[in-house]
Amino acid sequence: MRVLVIGGGGREHAIIDALSRSSKVTALFCAPGNGGTALQGTNVNIELFDPVYIVEWAEANAIDLVVVGPEDPLVVGAVDICLASGIPAFGPKAAGAHIEGSKSFAKDLMAKYDIPTAKYGVFDTSEEAMEYLDTLIAPVVVKADGLAAGKGVVVATDLIKARAAVTECFDGRYGDAGQRVVIEEFLDGPECSLLVFTDGKTVLPMVPAQDHKRAYDNDEGPNTGGMGVYSPVPVVDEATLAQMTAIMEQTVAAFVSEGIDYRGVLYGGFILTDDGPKVLEYNARFGDPETQVVLPRLKTDIVDVFMASIEQCLDELTLEWSDDAAVSVVLASGGYPDVYEKGKAIKGIDAAERIEGVRVYHAGTVLAKDGTVFTNGGRVLNVTAVAPTLAEARSRAYEAVDLISFQDMQYRTDIGLKALRALGEA
Ligand code: AMP
Ligand code: GLY
Repeated sequence: MRVLVIGGGGREHAIIDALSRSSKVTALFCAPGNGGTALQGTNVNIELFDPVYIVEWAEANAIDLVVVGPEDPLVVGAVDICLASGIPAFGPKAAGAHIEGSKSFAKDLMAKYDIPTAKYGVFDTSEEAMEYLDTLIAPVVVKADGLAAGKGVVVATDLIKARAAVTECFDGRYGDAGQRVVIEEFLDGPECSLLVFTDGKTVLPMVPAQDHKRAYDNDEGPNTGGMGVYSPVPVVDEATLAQMTAIMEQTVAAFVSEGIDYRGVLYGGFILTDDGPKVLEYNARFGDPETQVVLPRLKTDIVDVFMASIEQCLDELTLEWSDDAAVSVVLASGGYPDVYEKGKAIKGIDAAERIEGVRVYHAGTVLAKDGTVFTNGGRVLNVTAVAPTLAEARSRAYEAVDLISFQDMQYRTDIGLKALRALGEA
């Protein structure tokens, strides 16, 4: 099969890597891709603002399967248009991707179907939002309704900060995405992501993972796209996992009731509260960086999973997972998630990958003709280690990090520590 992956982050490199382990794959393409996908397949330049160009390119290049990584092409109907043209495409259609494209849509769906989530209000004007804030006690969470690359969320420790966040949203900091605001009750507890494959009928959960959204150690600093991740998650016992899985099944059932045919990955972002797991948000795609620790643990051929989701026969498939643990540390450009520079030469990736179990997934990188890899984004590399225990995976990941360098490199030193503490190993 000739497979085209849309996207260019660490997630897409991990998807390309999983596809390259399939015996069914003969050629791999990534649009736009990054320095890492260029080493494992062919990067192609397709205009992505209009999905019609994806179809054009896929037809001209005899593509058998399109896999859409990021939310933006999903929300504008990349899968709809591929399927309508007879090209198998993995991911939800636009109607389903709306669960990520609009936080208020997601909250209203949860309210309608009694899915546990934070109490909330939705506001289209600053005045109404401010009035609602007057009735609340901090902390509260202020969210831009639309897509803001994981950065449109402010956890406000007092109401002054909450009011400032509302003002920023309506002042256009997130463009149109912030012209509607969701204000939420703060949920206390560990965070955990559970991604599932679904074909609209069957739900097959992946292994849980824990992201680290804040920029700095000890969960300080601004929210980012994610600074590191590990899997499995020791605080998630079997009973909790069963509750989270039931919530994901309930969500897919809600889609059916709403007449939405949802196939692809559904990502549940949870807080494990004292009252059980509650949904923070849904994403309509693989998580980034969750994918970088989840897919390395998947033993089933990923092409079979993608095709079964598209052809609605996931009930015939059982997913097999490795018992190994995985830890991934994000190396970011200094200044991320705010202003940062690009174009810094990266050293040490090959040496890092010589450590047993270590794989370096590229995110914001570009490969020069002479083989040098340069930084080209905020999140640059995902240094991932797979090992029999979380402690070993964590120490190998950081051993690998120590071998890599670029100017102004920034990373968290505490990825996976929470897991070790939960296990009583730190
Ligand atoms: P979201 O994009 O909605 O997942 O929000 C980004 C991050 O903000 C989450 O991963 C949480 O760390 C935090 N967050 C969002 N909503 C809440 C909430 N209601 N309570 C506590 N933390 C939250
Ligand atoms: N890791 C968070 C996300 O993919 O949105």
